Amino acid sequence: MQAFIENMPKAELHVHLEGTLEPELSFALARKNNIELGYETPEELIAAYDFYDLPSFLTIYYGAMKVLRDEADFYQLTWNYLSKAYSQNTLYAELFFDPQAHTSRGVEFGVIMHGIRAAQEDAEAKLGIKGQLIMCFLRDMSAESALEHLLMAEPYLAWLVGVGLDSDEKNNPPAKFAEVFKKAREMGLKLTMHCDVNQQNTLLHIGQCLDEIVVDRIDHGVNSLESDALCEAIKTKGLGLTVCPVSNRFVVQSLTSNEIRRMLEKGMLATINSDDPAYFRAYLNENLVELQREGNFTAEEIAILVGNAFRVAWLPDEEKMTYLQKLGAYIQNASIQ
Ligand code: HPA
Ligand code: ZN
Repeated sequence: MQAFIENMPKAELHVHLEGTLEPELSFALARKNNIELGYETPEELIAAYDFYDLPSFLTIYYGAMKVLRDEADFYQLTWNYLSKAYSQNTLYAELFFDPQAHTSRGVEFGVIMHGIRAAQEDAEAKLGIKGQLIMCFLRDMSAESALEHLLMAEPYLAWLVGVGLDSDEKNNPPAKFAEVFKKAREMGLKLTMHCDVNQQNTLLHIGQCLDEIVVDRIDHGVNSLESDALCEAIKTKGLGLTVCPVSNRFVVQSLTSNEIRRMLEKGMLATINSDDPAYFRAYLNENLVELQREGNFTAEEIAILVGNAFRVAWLPDEEKMTYLQKLGAYIQNASIQ
């Protein structure tokens, strides 16, 4: 089963580029850019990863980003993730990035965009892994700042597939960003938002995503299972849910395997993702392998979860079909069947 998962052609739809910053790269960039990290070794840094809720994670996550300064740094970050993903047979990835976490430190918007884009182009040309970019707004910053960044992105529109919303959800509902997301939609971008696990007013927030923002996808969204009406709406609209098992475990002490099974039973399009793999110490394969073990999922169920990521990817139908055919051929040939 582990080999079946590891060799399977996969897609990842919920990974924060800044969340792929491995301790070794942090140290290398800190040395290059003359930045004090406050830790002696990568192991010491990893030992400080003691996350128990969203804010405790975000403090470490934003603190570590100070090592990202120039185009080459963003290139390296992106290249490292895409080559790691490719080594796990991930063929397609939609990548979140948090420009406000960099512009607020004096990094120019264009520096971020050019660094990431160059690595995407190289990874596609040299490895064959395709990446698309989703620009996230930090929900604990103002709607005005989000709008400013959306306008900064206008010259780079062809390099973005969508916008998202991340960071601290407490007191920062989707509705706060209704205008910005409306404008993003008018610009031709797809829309998604984080509805993190066990947040205050989570059902209200998921409802706002559906009715006020009219999202194309929901990130996490596990708590939707508490409302039959929300589940029905998510299913009827065919919205994908990007669930992140190992990330969830820091908050709810389980990989949410029961919840993921219930989503499948209800016909909801759940997908499995890594979120912030450098911090949670698990890329897509580890997420799938551990989830399969906890929930005792069959090969067929794993194939549905992996197939869902291609089904709800923000790609033209023909490209989705090509990936799904590749997955289908793999499953037919796999000895596990
Ligand atoms: N939730 C909210 N903000 C984030 C996350 C997340 O899972 N990862 C990185 N920023
Ligand atoms: Zn996330």
